[in-house]
Amino acid sequence: MMFSGVKVGVKVAEGKSKVVYIIPETHHVLLHSKDRITARDGERAHEMKGKAEMSTTTTCVIFELLNNAGIKTHFIKRQGKTTMVTHRCDMIPIEWVTRRLATGSFLKRNPGVTEGYRFYPPKLETFLKDDKNHDPQWSYEQCIEAKLTAGPRIIGQYEIDIISRTTVTVFEILEKAWASLGCSLIDMKVEFGINHETGEILLADVIDNDSWRLWPAGDRRLMKDVQVYRELKEVTAKDLDMVKRNFEWVADKVSQLSPSSHVRAVVFMGSPVYMAHCEKIRSTCETFGVPCELRVSSADKGCHELLNILAQYEGEGIPTVFIAVAGSSNGLGPVLSGNAIWPVINCPPADWVAEDIWSSLRVPTDLGCTTVTSPDAAALAAVQILGLGDHIIWSKLRANQLNTWINLKEADKKTRN
Ligand SMILES: Nc1ncnc2c1ncn2[C@@H]1O[C@H](COP(=O)(O)OP(=O)(O)OP(=O)(O)O)[C@@H](O)[C@H]1O
Ligand SMILES: [Mg+2]
Repeated sequence: MMFSGVKVGVKVAEGKSKVVYIIPETHHVLLHSKDRITARDGERAHEMKGKAEMSTTTTCVIFELLNNAGIKTHFIKRQGKTTMVTHRCDMIPIEWVTRRLATGSFLKRNPGVTEGYRFYPPKLETFLKDDKNHDPQWSYEQCIEAKLTAGPRIIGQYEIDIISRTTVTVFEILEKAWASLGCSLIDMKVEFGINHETGEILLADVIDNDSWRLWPAGDRRLMKDVQVYRELKEVTAKDLDMVKRNFEWVADKVSQLSPSSHVRAVVFMGSPVYMAHCEKIRSTCETFGVPCELRVSSADKGCHELLNILAQYEGEGIPTVFIAVAGSSNGLGPVLSGNAIWPVINCPPADWVAEDIWSSLRVPTDLGCTTVTSPDAAALAAVQILGLGDHIIWSKLRANQLNTWINLKEADKKTRN
C-alpha cells in the first residue's frame, strides 16, 4: 500500500497517538501521527484536527536539532505533513523522565517538596510503560534487574547507564534551545529503542508538545503544553480550541530555532609554513559548526597590515575569536590582544621550545590573551567561548562530551571481553 508517498508494508505498532508501518524497501519505518490528544493513560481522549501535523513539525525540528548536535537518534527525515521516516527500533518499554523543576506527579510522590524546587543536575526518573498499571515508577536497580529485552539485546546496567546519561544530555540541549526562545523547559519524557538493523541504542519515539512541560518566561500560568488539557475539569469545544492554539504556538516557535549561527574563529599565522598546524585548528572548529578563516600576517613584519585586517573584522560585527600562531617569539597574539576586544588564544606551532613559550605567557598588563599548546585545544577553547552565546554550538560540545564518555565505556567493555 502507498502511504504518504512511500510504499509501506505491515503495521509494526499502533498506540494512542501513532501508527508505525514498515517500509520494506529500506527496512526503515514510517511513523504516522494521529489527530488525537489523550491524558490519564487514555482515560481522556479527544479528536483534534491538525494535531498530527503540529506534532510532526515539533518532533521533526527537535530530532533534527539533536541529530545535528551529534546525539544518536532514530530520526531520518520528515516524509509528509503527519509522517516521518525513522530507523526501525525494538523499543525499550521505559519512559525516561528528566526534570529541572519539581512539579506535577513528583510533588505527589515526594510530599514536602515545594513546587518549583530546582534540581541540579536535572533529576532523572524511570517509569515502566504499562498503561494498565498507570506506568509504575521503577528505580535504577529495578530497571537493571528486570533484564528487559529489545530485539536480541538485553537491557542491563551498561545500556541503562548510557541511556540515563543520554537522556539528561538531551534535556540540557533542549532546555538551552528553548531558553533561546525565552521559554523554560520544566521536564521531559523520552523513549529509547535498539536499532533493528545494527543493534545500536537510539533515542526514538517522538519529542513533541505531549512530551514536556513548557513555561514561557518560566511562568507556570503561561504553560503551553499538553498539561493545559490534562488540567481541564471538563473539556468544551472552546477549551479544545485553546489547547490547539497552544500546540500551534509551540510548533511555530520551535520552527524559529535557527539552524546555524553567525560567529567565527580567525587563525592568524605569522608565516605560511605553519599552514598544517592551522588547518588542524580549522578542522576542529568546523567539526563544531564554527566557520574558521586562516590569515597570514605578522606583527613584527607587517604590523600595519595586521591592524587593518583586525579593524575589518571588528567592523563586520560578527562575534569572533582570534587564534595566533607565531613561531619563536610570539608578537602576534599580544598585539592582537592589545588592540582588539575579542578573545585571543595563542597556539604556538608544534616546534616551539621552552624559551619561546614565555613570549606568550609573560605578557604586559592589560592583555587578556590565553595560551594553549595543541591545535585541538585552541580550537576547542575558541568553540567553547563562542558556545556561551549560541545554543547550537553548545549542544555540539555537550553531545561531544557525552559521546566521548560513551566511547570510553564501549572501549572498556571491549577490553574486558
Ligand atoms: N523507531 C521506532 N520503531 C518502532 N517502533 C517505534 C519507533 N518509535 C516509536 N515506536 C513505538 O510506536 C508505538 C506507537 O506509538 P504511540 O505513542 O502511539 O503508542 P503508546 O506509547 O503505546 O501510546 P501513548 O504514547 O499514547 O501512550 C509505541 O509503542 C512506540 O514505542
Ligand atoms: Mg507513546
